[in-house]
Amino acid sequence: MTAGLASVLAGARILPVLTVPSVAHAGPLADALTAGGARCAEVTFRTPDAEHAVKAMAAHGGLAVGAGTVLTPEQAERAVAAGARFVVSPGHDAEVVARCRELGVPVVPGIATATELMGALRAGLDTVKLFPAEPLGGMGMLKALAAPFPRARFLPTGGIGPAHLSAYLSHPAVLAVGGSWMATADHLRRADYTAIRRLTAEAVERSTG
Ligand code: 3PG
Repeated sequence: MTAGLASVLAGARILPVLTVPSVAHAGPLADALTAGGARCAEVTFRTPDAEHAVKAMAAHGGLAVGAGTVLTPEQAERAVAAGARFVVSPGHDAEVVARCRELGVPVVPGIATATELMGALRAGLDTVKLFPAEPLGGMGMLKALAAPFPRARFLPTGGIGPAHLSAYLSHPAVLAVGGSWMATADHLRRADYTAIRRLTAEAVERSTG
């Protein structure tokens, strides 16, 4: 199951991280992301409409939609009920992981240290979110952390933008890079789907170039 998610992420290379202010944005946002070439998206549970946005974006059909910023087992349940295909958390919470396993949905915990990575690997979670990647040291941190743990696969996220993308993606342990730069809160407030499509297309192009 996690192997399934690893291939989805490895195929997508780019994971737009979205904080959707209202479900009204979901349709045009999914249109813009797919037009830009995105194949998956993470809707963060940071807004009251998050689960409705997951549902609407999953129904759109063009994206593998997951839930992000999942902090509790109850949020994991709501996310999966709404159609989330995977769950991402900023940290590693055993109860969230257990609930995701019961629900049969892949979960990606956040890790920021070697000890946390060892905990995730021990729990059978080989795909982890390195968070927050840039404040932690960016590529230097990723390389140092990946070296002793050949089994680990990373989804670096946090402070990443177009300038860092190619470097992260060139590391063999990186499945995909996550970030909000393609669809920021400001873009969504202004309903600037043209910019979202353009930034997504640029990221996808860099990821394949
Ligand atoms: C997340 O939840 O993954 C991060 O907030 C995304 O990080 P970014 O906004 O710095 O890209």
